[in-house]
Amino acid sequence: MTTLAWWQKGVIYQVYPRSFQDENGDGVGDLAGIAARLEYLATLGIDAIWLSPIYPSPMADFGYDISDYCAIDPVFGTLSDFDRLVERAHVLGLRVLVDFVPDHSSDQHPWFLDSRASRANAKRDWYLWRDPAPDGGPPNNWLSRMGGSAWEWDPSSGQCYYHSFLPQQPDLNWRNPEVCEAMDAVLRFWLDRGVDGFRVDVLWLLIKDALFRDNPTNPQFSPDEPGHHAQLQTHTEDQPEVHNIVRSMRRTLDSYGERVLIGEIYLPVPQLVRYYGSAGDGVNMPFNFQLITARWTASNIAQLITTYERALPVHAWPNWVLGNHDNPRVASRIGAAQARIAAMLLLTLRGTPTLYYGDEIGMADGKIQPELVRDPAELRQPGIGQGRDPERTPMQWDASGKAGFTRGKPWLPIGNAAAANVASQDGESWSILALYRRLLSLRRSEPALVAGSIGNVTAQGHVLTFERCLGSVRLFVALNMEDRPGAITSPAGRVVLSTREGRDGHRIAGELILDSDEGIVVACD
Ligand code: NOJ
Repeated sequence: MTTLAWWQKGVIYQVYPRSFQDENGDGVGDLAGIAARLEYLATLGIDAIWLSPIYPSPMADFGYDISDYCAIDPVFGTLSDFDRLVERAHVLGLRVLVDFVPDHSSDQHPWFLDSRASRANAKRDWYLWRDPAPDGGPPNNWLSRMGGSAWEWDPSSGQCYYHSFLPQQPDLNWRNPEVCEAMDAVLRFWLDRGVDGFRVDVLWLLIKDALFRDNPTNPQFSPDEPGHHAQLQTHTEDQPEVHNIVRSMRRTLDSYGERVLIGEIYLPVPQLVRYYGSAGDGVNMPFNFQLITARWTASNIAQLITTYERALPVHAWPNWVLGNHDNPRVASRIGAAQARIAAMLLLTLRGTPTLYYGDEIGMADGKIQPELVRDPAELRQPGIGQGRDPERTPMQWDASGKAGFTRGKPWLPIGNAAAANVASQDGESWSILALYRRLLSLRRSEPALVAGSIGNVTAQGHVLTFERCLGSVRLFVALNMEDRPGAITSPAGRVVLSTREGRDGHRIAGELILDSDEGIVVACD
């Protein structure tokens, strides 16, 4: 345990700042709001918060379009608010991670305004500019992840620029050393302010094919998928040169001591784990999103854990993510009862867990009326399930009309706060919030859950079972992944934590029938 870094021992909690807590009453969450809720987070038992972007932005993609990398958007507060937040968090023993969005800036960033001003501008090559095709069409067939061509025609300078996402999010040219230097200065700016690490946005997209070759057609494409799935992203993602950039980011972080670099990377496991770096010099953790998309069956999850564990390089530290601001919430994906099982799974697996705000109270996706949709992904490609507003609705602090989130008009509708809110679950010993608190506290007090090996990962029928071992301590975890009882064989021991009332402390040995949707952690004799 003593040789592990804080981010290996800790649990990360993602805050989507617009939706966590609004202090100034404008209906959008802010830094002062997050600061006011730090005690709640410390009591919950997490170790670090990751803040989605808080920088000046026209908000075309709600902060993932940055117009100044080294400041705070007034909607969230000021740099002093940020400094106060970091200071208070550190006093409470919480680390602070910020979002780093190096792939693209806003089209309103001064760098891009310069770049677009003329072909001769010194910043022209900071972005990806190409001549149109001879017929006047886009330079190649590359598609945007927000629909349509990834090329935007700029009439004044007579060329097109590339955008992986919205036209308001031009991609930077990471083959230009000046861009690398400017972005390194951004990392240092925030490190100097005391941040403990970064989550790097779309890390696997930073470098594109130097020859701008067309992407091949995806033979498996089905029309209900996002448009860019019509192509294999052969030339627009996961290019070998990206690893040089990752190494350089890592060097910068390491020069500040124990900081953490996390990459947002959606790739199959064999490619994903390469981002750890061939000598452990890549990101500390490439986010492992498999639980978000996995078929929720014991055999599938058992298989996925085993495959992931086997694929990890020797130096690599695993991690697991249950939800984020880009995907439907876990409680909506698998239902309220299984969300409790997911909590136990996340917090007993080997590797750093990342929670998404509200998952600890079992918040479900909000319902968004068509006229209230704010997400540009949904507005540009309606009806293909791209909409991300449902998982971004305000945190439900209490059962009141505005859920204790704001005194103003919330920027997104409030979800079903009566069904899930902090205030009512606070006092209930079997609420999902109480379960999260117990699991987080067990993870803190039981080194085997952090530093222990994982083994015997098996599906016993529809019950997932595995063991975590450290020295003479052996913990057995059993998770019933269906809403019918499940018979298992268990080693002899004592139940140290159960998802349901009345099982804690029981001695068990041999045959055991778990209730529907029940999970247990057993300390083996
Ligand atoms: C990934 C972020 O998580 C997502 O919210 C955003 O739209 C894209 N990157 C573009 O920055």
